[in-house]
Amino acid sequence: MNKRLSTNNNPIGILDSGVGGLSVWQEVIKTLPHESIIYFGDSANCPYGEKSKTRIKTMTENIIDFLLKKDCKLIIIACNTISVSIIEELRKKYSIPIIAIEPAIKVAAKHTKNKNIGVLATRGTQKGKLYKNTKEKLPKNINIHFQIGKGLVEIVEKGEINAPKNIKLLKKYLNPLMNKNIDQLVLGCTHYPFLTRQIKQITENKINIINPAKAVAKQTKKKLTDHKLLTNRSKPNYTFFTSGKIFLIEKLLPNINLKSIKINLNKKL
Ligand code: DGL
Repeated sequence: MNKRLSTNNNPIGILDSGVGGLSVWQEVIKTLPHESIIYFGDSANCPYGEKSKTRIKTMTENIIDFLLKKDCKLIIIACNTISVSIIEELRKKYSIPIIAIEPAIKVAAKHTKNKNIGVLATRGTQKGKLYKNTKEKLPKNINIHFQIGKGLVEIVEKGEINAPKNIKLLKKYLNPLMNKNIDQLVLGCTHYPFLTRQIKQITENKINIINPAKAVAKQTKKKLTDHKLLTNRSKPNYTFFTSGKIFLIEKLLPNINLKSIKINLNKKL
């Protein structure tokens, strides 16, 4: 076989309604440290969770078209709201591999002893077909308690992930779930892992918090391997585009060395 056909040095594209997908990006660079990545955060239009499906579809397709012009070889939808509402349409429209993220309810169902699972996510994710389908496939004795985390995405978009005032809002969402005796909490929005420290503080480390980002990174590696799309370069390039005015990578991922990273602000589509 021609060797050149078994690798591909084009970048992976990662998109989210804003900065939340950085929680996925940081797992992807651990699992695939040689792959170049272009990230697009649509912070100017964030949050997507309260928007109509038609609007979410138009905005997402604009970003994918932008990433395809940059020659991305695979797209990761690092946004539950987008994945659960329009993933099938996207896969029908585009021929490149698309990896989706969805609330890890099946993983939680495997681990729960109390048979009570909490899901914290956006309204858009709760409405999504994919989420409903997963729920229906679970054993009947497992109860899923859904909580919409209105306002949490906005906190992360402002970079206020350690602000003491978040505790009050988080308690408002977590207390009803804890009252249901949950032992698993599924983070059904990629912005929420940035609030993990405060969530753990409230739940006193008694609840297992499930973030599917690692699983998405693993799935991406498998897809690239199966499609013979892995890079053969050793040094990756990381580029970030945002439609917003500021980009909070240094606030959200303080361990990242920004010198090796290109950041483009205000990329209007
Ligand atoms: N990070 C997105 C998600 O995972 C946030 C959605 C939104 O913008 O409402 O759902």
